[in-house]
Amino acid sequence: MCGIVGFTGKRKAAPILLDGLSKLEYRGYDSAGIAVRDGSADAEVIKTKGRLSNLYNKTNGGESVNGFCGVGHTRWATHGEPSENNAHPHYSDDMNVIGVHNGIIESYQEIKDKLIRRGYLFHTQTDTEVLIKYIDYYYKKYKMGPIDAIAKTMVRIRGSYAVAVMFKDYPGEIYVARKDSPMILGIKDGESYIASDVPAILKYTRNVYYIGNMEMARLSGGEISFFNLDGEKIEKELTEIKWDAEAAEKGGYEHFMIKEIHEQPKAVKDTINSTIIDGKIDLTSVGLTEELIQSIDMIHIVACGSAYHVGVAAQYVIEDIARIRVRVELASEFRYRRPLLNKNDLVVVISQSGETADTLAALREAKSQNIHTLAMVNVVGSSIAREADNVFYTLAGPEIAVATTKAYSAQLVSCYLLAIQMAKVRGKVDDKKYKQLISSIEQLPWQIEKTLDNTERIQWFAAKFANAKDIFFIGRGVDYAISLEGSLKMKEISYVHSEAYAAGELKHGTISLIEEGTLVISVLTQSELYEKMVSNMVEVKSRGAYLMGLTSFGHYDIEDTVDFTVYVPNTDEHFAASLAVIPLQLMGYYMSLARGLDVDKPRNLAKSVTVE
Ligand code: G6P
Repeated sequence: MCGIVGFTGKRKAAPILLDGLSKLEYRGYDSAGIAVRDGSADAEVIKTKGRLSNLYNKTNGGESVNGFCGVGHTRWATHGEPSENNAHPHYSDDMNVIGVHNGIIESYQEIKDKLIRRGYLFHTQTDTEVLIKYIDYYYKKYKMGPIDAIAKTMVRIRGSYAVAVMFKDYPGEIYVARKDSPMILGIKDGESYIASDVPAILKYTRNVYYIGNMEMARLSGGEISFFNLDGEKIEKELTEIKWDAEAAEKGGYEHFMIKEIHEQPKAVKDTINSTIIDGKIDLTSVGLTEELIQSIDMIHIVACGSAYHVGVAAQYVIEDIARIRVRVELASEFRYRRPLLNKNDLVVVISQSGETADTLAALREAKSQNIHTLAMVNVVGSSIAREADNVFYTLAGPEIAVATTKAYSAQLVSCYLLAIQMAKVRGKVDDKKYKQLISSIEQLPWQIEKTLDNTERIQWFAAKFANAKDIFFIGRGVDYAISLEGSLKMKEISYVHSEAYAAGELKHGTISLIEEGTLVISVLTQSELYEKMVSNMVEVKSRGAYLMGLTSFGHYDIEDTVDFTVYVPNTDEHFAASLAVIPLQLMGYYMSLARGLDVDKPRNLAKSVTVE
């Protein structure tokens, strides 16, 4: 959460900082600010409350701010309400140290007390002001330069941070440090860049360095040096980002979310193509050996948000196809319940960003117990990708809208591929079945494309229910997993209360909430459970519910029961989530649109949740 950027080079910094921040607004958007230095003069600091557009207007798109070196920040408030005063950058009172920070300094109160005793004054409620003034304190106390001051601060604070600071005595230079919060450093043609995430600098450079945990770096125009905590220089390799710069732009769509919904056939296809070679699944790039697959006793899938919903679907699929026991769990629960893991277990963490704090902590918990870990991640070089034993990269490209769509779809298909390969290696499917399953997987991209043709009816239906108070999603098996995701999409972007329920569980409480006209969206793609679902649907209908049925082509008898039907193409039923989720994503999108909301940046949320 929170986005940070930095630039030092030959061009005006402010417009580049603002442009970078505009690509990071998904990380937080309750206030924003920049600090830019013109040569050795003090930095000019400009901050605004609210969306980045306010900062843009205040600085004439950055044009009214002179200087070639600066840092910027877009905030998702943790300590201190969203306000201009609490917005970053923060600085020492004499402007000696100025910086921006993403993360949380847990020990900020004790440090603040210490600094107050040493004469420091505090003007904001943020932990960042404490961090910046602590660096200032060590800089002045030991007089050994920025790297030493930052290192001394790092060993004394608790918490997470990606921090970028400028020192009065070092014009044209920016110093950074990180622990558990994301940050990349870019370089090109005598200019250097800092960003929380790739899209912010993709337009300017594809050459990036990943700074490790508890490491620091010094940036000047076109030069970046790295240091460990002892202040010794360390070498880093430059990595080339393969993402297409266009992918981080709206490209004619009204919102990133609808663009990303339409990019799903490609995201799924690219992910499939990375692992299916000559009609066979090849997990060499993932590094999962047949020997390891043979030895797995149990799989624990751990994730947050939509990635957790992928895990719920994967649990049904892997258990059924590969016959391996699977437990799926929320990372925020897993990390604190002292999980009992066995040496032959496999822990799979799923994360688009690869930076979600709880998921990262869950991964570390598994590693601390010497359990083999596999990360399913979209962002190359992210913390989770770097720390896991094996990585399965989803190839969804940059995802900007806060509500995930294409990364979710790429994760789902990756789980199917894992399930099929595990089944093959463990002898649970014969060659014929293996080929059939792969063939079904290969059809998914065009089937998703076909499902996307259905948007007008869904748009109409979403507008009809735009004033709904409550919406219920019900399903059984994989359809329950889809319901969870459909419900989350609905509430996170349209702010309509919704709940997902295992259809058989409804009558144990939730059915009392059904009133005349309550919309119940029923998902029924699983033929074995079809009749059971219809019974549950009739139960709510007889209590006044307005029923939408989401099923696959051929089940036309459903029209007798429901008020509105959406059909998706037929696939192997294990993989139905990949198709049935599409209309539900569209429902959430069009509902939000009909209610006049900010689809890409829903209130209170952030895309990458780097606090617990
Ligand atoms: C946030 C996002 C969700 C996402 C979840 C997990 O809540 O809004 O869309 O599913 O984080 O993020 P991750 O990057 O770990 O997949």
